[in-house]
Amino acid sequence: MVSSRPRLWITRRLSANTEARAMRDYDVVLNPDDQVSSVDRIVEMSQQVDAILPCHSESFNAEVAARLGMRLKIIANHSVGVDHCDLEALARRGITVTNTPDVLSDATAEVTLLLLLGAARRAAQGDRLVRDGRWDSWSPSFMVGHQVTGKTLGIVGMGKVGRVVADRARGFDMAVHYHNRTRLDPGLERGAVYHDSLDSLLSAAQFVSLHCPASPESHEMMNARTFALLPDNAVLVNASRGALVDEDALLDALDSGKLAAAGLDCFRQEPGGNPEFSRRDNIFMLPHIGSATFETRDAMGFRALDNLDAFFSGRTPQDRLV
Ligand code: DGY
Repeated sequence: MVSSRPRLWITRRLSANTEARAMRDYDVVLNPDDQVSSVDRIVEMSQQVDAILPCHSESFNAEVAARLGMRLKIIANHSVGVDHCDLEALARRGITVTNTPDVLSDATAEVTLLLLLGAARRAAQGDRLVRDGRWDSWSPSFMVGHQVTGKTLGIVGMGKVGRVVADRARGFDMAVHYHNRTRLDPGLERGAVYHDSLDSLLSAAQFVSLHCPASPESHEMMNARTFALLPDNAVLVNASRGALVDEDALLDALDSGKLAAAGLDCFRQEPGGNPEFSRRDNIFMLPHIGSATFETRDAMGFRALDNLDAFFSGRTPQDRLV
């Protein structure tokens, strides 16, 4: 029997609740082995389905967009970031694209604070020492780190995630400064100090946290020139995208002492990261898990399905980008 339900390919293994709801409402092709799909597989599947629900691990660049099948009508991303999609090229093909904003702000802010604390208080080094059985002495001069409480936090990109990070940081009595394309209303700013340029923010920030999308404008915004603007012994945190940071310049800034430490959940090369980083004790790293909580995975999956439901019932999806 031919199904009248839209055919949906879910490219990666999602939460059980998400997959159950998808199977209730769509004719679903799952990926139980959770394999990353090649470009040829994406192109092949696009000829067989009406919708794809991908993650940021699948690329829909201009070359892929040009090869997508005519049947495919919508790409409902399971991510807030859409730097893996060439929106203009997909729009030219008449393909609707959505994302999942809002629902991952709390989880990502949690990981941001974890990175900030872990970098400042040398968590990676301390964990390794105990774990490896090499913790053989203690003294007041042992593993001294940088206190977070009362310091100045510079947030680059005061969108939803940036604002939750600001709220959590206030719990540590941090003075919140920010740079954003536009200044926020006082109700959203909540006393944070606005800087109309990145340079101005960096010169004031003992801690810097990046919360802007990867784009041609933000590409390697942290580079040799901008690292030099920071006060000595600053701490950089990135739970956004690896493309925002020139990783060679980051290593130089750590080696010169301009930066005391870095906390990274995102890398230029993912999965995998940067092997040079593993040689530094003052980098605290996580494998791109900012949104990886049970609650948020359900919320992201449901938000992507909400967008599909709207699309296939003739309404505009709330998170339509093109
Ligand atoms: C996002 O939603 O952009 C996260 O990085 C996970 O993909």
